[in-house]
Amino acid sequence: MDIKVPRGTQDILPTETGKWQAVEELIREQCRMYQYKEIRTPVFEHTELFTRSVGDTTDIVQKEMYTFQDRGNRSLTLRPEGTASAVRAFVEHKMFGYPDQPVKLYYMGPMFRYERQQAGRYRQFVQFGIEAIGSADPAIDAEVISLAMSVYQNAGLKKLKLVINSLGDKESRVSHKTALVSHFEPHIEEFCSDCQNRLQKNPLRILDCKVDRNHPLMETAPSLADFLNEESAAYFEKVKEYLTILNIPFEVDPNLVRGLDYYNHTAFEIMSAAEGFGAITTLAGGGRYNGLVEELGGPDAPGIGFAMSIERLLLAIEAENNVWSDKSTLDVYVIGLGEAAKKKAVELTYQLRQEKITAEMDYLDRKMKTQMKSADRLKAKFVLVIGDDELEKESAMLKELATGTQNLVPFSSLIDQIKTSSTQLEAEENE
Ligand code: HAM
Repeated sequence: MDIKVPRGTQDILPTETGKWQAVEELIREQCRMYQYKEIRTPVFEHTELFTRSVGDTTDIVQKEMYTFQDRGNRSLTLRPEGTASAVRAFVEHKMFGYPDQPVKLYYMGPMFRYERQQAGRYRQFVQFGIEAIGSADPAIDAEVISLAMSVYQNAGLKKLKLVINSLGDKESRVSHKTALVSHFEPHIEEFCSDCQNRLQKNPLRILDCKVDRNHPLMETAPSLADFLNEESAAYFEKVKEYLTILNIPFEVDPNLVRGLDYYNHTAFEIMSAAEGFGAITTLAGGGRYNGLVEELGGPDAPGIGFAMSIERLLLAIEAENNVWSDKSTLDVYVIGLGEAAKKKAVELTYQLRQEKITAEMDYLDRKMKTQMKSADRLKAKFVLVIGDDELEKESAMLKELATGTQNLVPFSSLIDQIKTSSTQLEAEENE
C-alpha cells in the first residue's frame, strides 16, 4: 500500500505543531486586544452561498471549489474562504440586533481551493480572518488593516508592504465597467475564453486573469481611480488619513482589484518583501463589502475584513530567519528503577500531572542512562530517581538538570519541593 496525503495538502508533524500553536496563540491574543470574538462555522456550506457572494465569474467559483452532491442531492461546497460563512451566520442569527455594533468576528480554520500546488499555495490551507460588520466608518477600515499588520509585526516580521486601493461604490464601478468593456471589446478574441465570458458580465475580473496577465491591454486598461465619484474618493482619503494617524506606511496601487466579487471601497493586500520568499508574495488580503449582508438576505449592514493563511505567515517568518523557540517544556522526568520503584514512578507521575506539573516517564524499561538522555532531549527541568534505596527511605532523588544539584526528598514533601524549586528556577531565568 502506498497511500500519501492528497496533492496540495500536508501533514503538520509534532515537530512543527509547536510553531503553529505559538502563532495561533499570538493571533488569539491580538484578537482579544482588538475585541474580535471567535466564530466557528461549518467546513461545508450550500454551494449557492459562494456563487452569490464570491461571485460566479471568479476563478474561485469557476475553477477552484470542491463541490459535491450529498446523499440528499444537495449541492454542497467545502468552504474556499470565510467571509461568506461569517456573513451568512450574521444574517441567520440576526447579529444585526446585537446591542454592540459593529459585530467583530474572527475565525481560524481550514479552507479548500482546487489550485495548482506551489510554495505557499495549497489545496487545504488554514485561514485566520476577521470581519467587522455593521459600520461604515473609515476608522474601522484602518483598525482592520492595523490588526493584520500587528499580527505580522508581533510575529517578528519587518519586511512588509501594505498596498491599498479603492474600488469605489456601485456608481463608480458602473462607469468604470463601461470604460473597461469599450477598452477590451475590440480585441477580446485575443483573450482566453474565460475573459471573453467575463467581458459583459464582469470585465473587472479580466484584470486579475492569470492566463492573460501579460496582454498589453492589461497595462493600459482604464483605472478605477479615475472613475471614483466624490463620495468614494472622500471615503478613501479618510481611510488613508487614519492609516497615517496609526503610522502605518502604505502604497496605493490602482491595479489592486482582488479576486472576489463582493468588494467595494477599500481593498488591500499585505505582501512580504523578504528575499527568497518565493513567487507568491501576498500574505493577506481583504477589503470592504458593503451590500453583501443584504445580498445574503440581511439588512443593509456594511462590512470589512481580511484573511491570511497561517502557512504563508510561517513561510514569511522563515524567510526573515526568525527563530521561534518551542515553548513546550517538561518539568519533571520520573525514573523508577526496578519493579517496586516503577510502581511508585507511575503513581508519582500521575500525582505531578494532577498538580499541573508536566511530567513524563519511561514505558520501555530502558536503562537509567538512556532515560537520562530522554530527559535531556525533552529539556526536563528536574529528574526524579527512585531505586530500591530511595524506596526504603520513602524518598526520591530530585536532580536539577541545569546545575546538577541533587537532594533526597521525602515523598510527602516532594510536590511542594518541586513547586518551590521551579519558582526559584523561573526567577533566576528572568533575572
Ligand atoms: P483571498 O485573497 O482569497 O481573500 O485570501 C486571503 C488569504 O488567504 C491570502 O492572502 C492567502 O494568505 C490565503 N490563501 C488564499 N488561497 C490560498 C492557498 N491556496 N494556499 C495558501 N493560502 C491561501 C479571502 O479569502 C477573503 N475572504 C478575505 C476577506 C475577509 N475579505 C474580507 N474579509
